[in-house]
Amino acid sequence: MNRLRNLRKNALLRGLVAETAAPDPAKLIYPVFVRDGEGIEEEIASMPGVYRYTVDRLDGVVKDALRAGIAGLMLFGVPARKDEEGSGAWDDGGPVPRAVRRIKELCAAERGQLLVIADICLCEYTSHGHCGVLRGGEVDNDASLPLHAAAAVCAARAGADMVAPSSMMDGVVAAIRTALDGAGFLSLPVMGYSAKFASAFYGPFREAAASAPQCGDRKSYQMDFRNGREALRELACDEEEGADILMVKPALCYLDVVRAARAQTRLPLAVYNVSGEYAMVKAAARAGMLDEARTVCEVLTAFFRAGADMVITYHALDYALRFCGKA
Ligand code: PBG
Repeated sequence: MNRLRNLRKNALLRGLVAETAAPDPAKLIYPVFVRDGEGIEEEIASMPGVYRYTVDRLDGVVKDALRAGIAGLMLFGVPARKDEEGSGAWDDGGPVPRAVRRIKELCAAERGQLLVIADICLCEYTSHGHCGVLRGGEVDNDASLPLHAAAAVCAARAGADMVAPSSMMDGVVAAIRTALDGAGFLSLPVMGYSAKFASAFYGPFREAAASAPQCGDRKSYQMDFRNGREALRELACDEEEGADILMVKPALCYLDVVRAARAQTRLPLAVYNVSGEYAMVKAAARAGMLDEARTVCEVLTAFFRAGADMVITYHALDYALRFCGKA
């Protein structure tokens, strides 16, 4: 008989043969919502433990992130004003550029370091909530590219360490790369949201960022969740366009794509454990249906087992400060 249980007898044996290490907090990125205004730190109803902060209230989360030893923060802006073009996305006085500068100050004061990654998209800034500009009721791909490029250069000017275009416009990575190079930011890395699916799991994020499309949906630019081979084409395109890091998003239902992506590319691979995935775990834990610490450890470990090199997750601080090693 094959006695596979022989190596499961005790924790030392299990540790010895473990194929995947417990996730290192240094491999995690924590998303942060930054809003216009002052003196506000408001919890997002569908994402317990996650807040929208005004720039003057970022001290606590930055200190926690430094204490947690995570790699960095990914910033999303929630501006007070929106317009057709999403012009707030390249406003040097907008919440994201101001937050980048503030976080760098706080890190310097704490003698710590965090990577500050700026998500680059228009949906938080457009009155219609789409990720590109509209022409005749359609999202105009090519007209949207220079706007994304302007937003990326704006984030770079503020001191962001990396930009991450999330709109799924074709050619956006190349447009941003060219603009960054032209503005002198030759060494600023670009993380492509390469294979981003049109997903119900973004629901809580859209509440957090007030970025739900006012008409229609995102299916003409985000991927159809029935497709795996097409995801590999998307990843190959971003690689060709000069992305430094590729991403698969969401995470939990897409580990087949993560595994296939790992086999296809030699670039570092990120997975985004999105808002709805976080909300499910939190809601079940709150209802006493799941052990949150063990669930989070299992979920995060699965991403690395599937082949991810890094994970963007709302669980990052809880994991690093409370759950790490509790599985
Ligand atoms: C904006 C953007 C979204 C997310 C990241 N960037 C929302 C969307 O595409 O509707 C989702 C993140 C999450 O759900 O946690 N383009």
